[in-house]
Amino acid sequence: MKGIKIIATASAAPANSYDNEKLCTMVDSDPEWIETRTGIRNRHICTNENAVSLAVEAGEKLFAKADIDKSRISAVIAATSTPEFVFPSVACMAAKELGLRREILAFDLSAACSGFMYALETARCYIAQNGGMALVIGTEKLSGIIDYTDRSTCILFGDGAGAALIESSDKLYHHVSGCEADIRALSLKGPGDGDRFVHMDGHRVFRFAVSILKEVVDKLLSDTGLTISEVNYVICHQANARIIDAVKKKYPGQEHKFYMNLEEYGNTSAASIPLLLSEMFEKGLLRDGMKVICAGFGAGLTWGGTLMEI
Ligand code: COA
Repeated sequence: MKGIKIIATASAAPANSYDNEKLCTMVDSDPEWIETRTGIRNRHICTNENAVSLAVEAGEKLFAKADIDKSRISAVIAATSTPEFVFPSVACMAAKELGLRREILAFDLSAACSGFMYALETARCYIAQNGGMALVIGTEKLSGIIDYTDRSTCILFGDGAGAALIESSDKLYHHVSGCEADIRALSLKGPGDGDRFVHMDGHRVFRFAVSILKEVVDKLLSDTGLTISEVNYVICHQANARIIDAVKKKYPGQEHKFYMNLEEYGNTSAASIPLLLSEMFEKGLLRDGMKVICAGFGAGLTWGGTLMEI
């Protein structure tokens, strides 16, 4: 099976932010409670930005880093639950703004917080078959679908985008994914009547998250015949530090491999994994030849993970 080479990554986040203190002027909560129960201290919240402008900003930063011939890009996939329009897609509008050629495949993909993992796998298959490079984006304006009087959800989510430019390679790559319909756990209604806010059963999602992350990591390891000690990092979707803490306890001695940045961004859904990848490349934590597990989970319920050599 063909793997991928990550040519470059970049991210974008709105300048405006709500720290726990500010959020607690809007909702009946407590800054210390939020930090202790979630690990989150801050989240970036759009003012004039939206999922398209964040995607474009991440894309522009990426092209500023990677001196590539843009005509080699054959696909743009934007994972998002918060597109500016149902159509045209974020991917279609971002492709134009970024000056990409017209003869490409461009579409949005809906798999909630697993979106980037689903998009990466879809893009990998596409370029393995058709050649070229793919721009894979996770972008969200979650503040537009959050009820800021609902303390069970508004403390968790933030806005942002991350992008990765990939091409086919013979590097190690293995993917697993799955889905299991569960409206009660986490849902958001589509166009039509009724409210347009996220509804969540926090306990149900928490339990699911801990067990599915362990399942995904174990399956990736057993399928590839690797042990966790041979993996450099485990990059999990950033939903709640307690979820990641509960998972990493299951891998004694390997806890340092579970990198987190949710303290600053909260849960940015499809953007969280590419935001992490971008930050880790920028800090020099990720280097050529390292083996990395990325694992996402979210509404659907959905989950997806890859074990790849970068
Ligand atoms: N501020 C202050 N108190 C709060 C609160 C808030 N924001 N939210 C809940 N509480 C209170 C509850 O009312 C409850 O009080 P009580 O004991 O007097 O009844 C107490 O805190 C405990 O509530 P509980 O719901 O058990 O808290 P929790 O530890 O499960 O944390 C979540 C709640 C939402 C943070 C947690 O369940 C979670 O993160 N779940 C996963 C959500 C997720 O990741 N979603 C996205 C997936 S992609």
